[in-house]
Amino acid sequence: MESPIKVFSNWVLNGKDEGMEKNHSTSVENMIKYSTKGFDKYKFIDAGCGNGWVVRKVSSDPKCISAIGVDGSIHMIEKAKMLDNKNEYFCHDLLKWIPKEKVDIVHSMEVFYYFEKPEIIISRIYDNWLKNKGRLIMGIDHYIENKPSHSWKEDISITTMQLLSKNTWLNFFKSAGFSNVEYWYFGKKGKWNGTLIITGIK
Ligand SMILES: C[S@@+](CC[C@H](N)C(=O)[O-])C[C@H]1O[C@@H](n2cnc3c(N)ncnc32)[C@H](O)[C@@H]1O
Repeated sequence: MESPIKVFSNWVLNGKDEGMEKNHSTSVENMIKYSTKGFDKYKFIDAGCGNGWVVRKVSSDPKCISAIGVDGSIHMIEKAKMLDNKNEYFCHDLLKWIPKEKVDIVHSMEVFYYFEKPEIIISRIYDNWLKNKGRLIMGIDHYIENKPSHSWKEDISITTMQLLSKNTWLNFFKSAGFSNVEYWYFGKKGKWNGTLIITGIK
């Protein structure tokens, strides 16, 4: 068993990081469409940005003033910087990093269940990353109601991978202080329950 950051760093070395864009892109498109619609202009952070594909995509939107990617894996961040010299990328543990300036939208896909206590990163984003009226939007595929994802911890041999219910995740958002908390499932098909998307406003 290895830490999530170590496992994903190895994925960059064998090119597997590029599969994440392919597998996550339809859910992420749905999340971005929803999170950006209320803003004439916005500043954006991708928490756990991997190789930066979402930052590159969002920064091409004329409404986007700045887009930042943060990830704990140095290989992911090196690759992001190699592919993109326009936007900013930081290699940091999300629990310790604080942006210089608060932003309008924090987006995160397939990251928060790698934390021992996901409620802490959700609260820190509320307190330190978001402007008032800013939005956090999170997508996850590993959660109790999505049975095909239950074996993932064993399959990819990762030390920390929290398997929590939709209601537990909703409570993390509400306890952090978020209002207008909403959720939906995207891409439900057969036994696959879809991406659980949760969002709220500061
Ligand atoms: C499944 S990947 C998702 C990457 C990207 N969001 C995507 O959709 O392609 C999870 C990412 O979270 C990062 N990560 C996990 N725990 C982290 C932590 N504590 N601090 C910073 N990054 C972390 C990993 O390095 C990895 O790049």
